[in-house]
Amino acid sequence: MIRSALMTVMTAAAQKAGRGLKRDLGEIENLQVSIKGPGDFVTAADKRAEKVLFEELSRARPGYGFIMEEGGVVEGTDKSHTWHIDPLDGTTNFLHGLPVFAISIALVRDEQIVAGLIFNPATDEMYVTEKGQGAFLNNTRLRVAARRNLAESLIGCGIPPLARAKHHPVFRAEFGALLAVAGNMRRLGSAALDLASVAAGRFDGYWERNIHSWDVAAGILLVREAGGFVSTADGKDDVLDGGSIVAGNEYIHRNMLATLRQAH
Ligand code: IPD
Ligand code: CA
Ligand code: CA
Ligand code: CA
Repeated sequence: MIRSALMTVMTAAAQKAGRGLKRDLGEIENLQVSIKGPGDFVTAADKRAEKVLFEELSRARPGYGFIMEEGGVVEGTDKSHTWHIDPLDGTTNFLHGLPVFAISIALVRDEQIVAGLIFNPATDEMYVTEKGQGAFLNNTRLRVAARRNLAESLIGCGIPPLARAKHHPVFRAEFGALLAVAGNMRRLGSAALDLASVAAGRFDGYWERNIHSWDVAAGILLVREAGGFVSTADGKDDVLDGGSIVAGNEYIHRNMLATLRQAH
């Protein structure tokens, strides 16, 4: 359990925004939906949740900056602290009434992720972490899975929307290579919950391209604090701005990177 003042602020903000998402899930047929690009939607629920998070976190920590999926960058007066926020990760699932979506909040201090929270209001699963304090699901400490063999592993992944055609050859080659060696693969539709699933040992690994810092910042720290490894698809540590991600325990992570290298 993490009982810091910071985590109290983060959980309170997530719970407040989560109540709104739960209410909106019950009314999805009346939700205002706009299309950001092919296969990329935003709803009034995303925007309402983001507004709640912005207001609550600004009030509790005045001056911190924000990088948000819908609202973009809001510069703070405190240049060393930035919140990376996805108010609704898994909008497509949400729109279809699938209860697989989450709020993702991370705090970055001087380029280091220092705290992360992933909350699925539909299942009441609250994942929290702070640097050096471990990773937790509700009150249970998390540990990544111990499996070492890719052939027995369950690997999460993401599928980029059709419009991002330039990534398709890379995506197909990498997906095919992983599928050929993994026990099996899954696509949840929420990058944050994919990473939370790795931290919880439900998935052995996770791979995705075309991700943004707000999708993964909280999940990266959660996996690392649960004893796992996270890098870009070409093995670099700088995943926040790297655009691709591979996560797993030491062995699965290493084997996934080797598999991806051979895919090209
Ligand atoms: C999306 C989800 C999805 C991932 C996409 C993301 P959104 O976020 O995390 O799993 O494959 O790349 O954009 O748009 O639902 O917040
Ligand atoms: Ca989106
Ligand atoms: Ca997202
Ligand atoms: Ca989102």
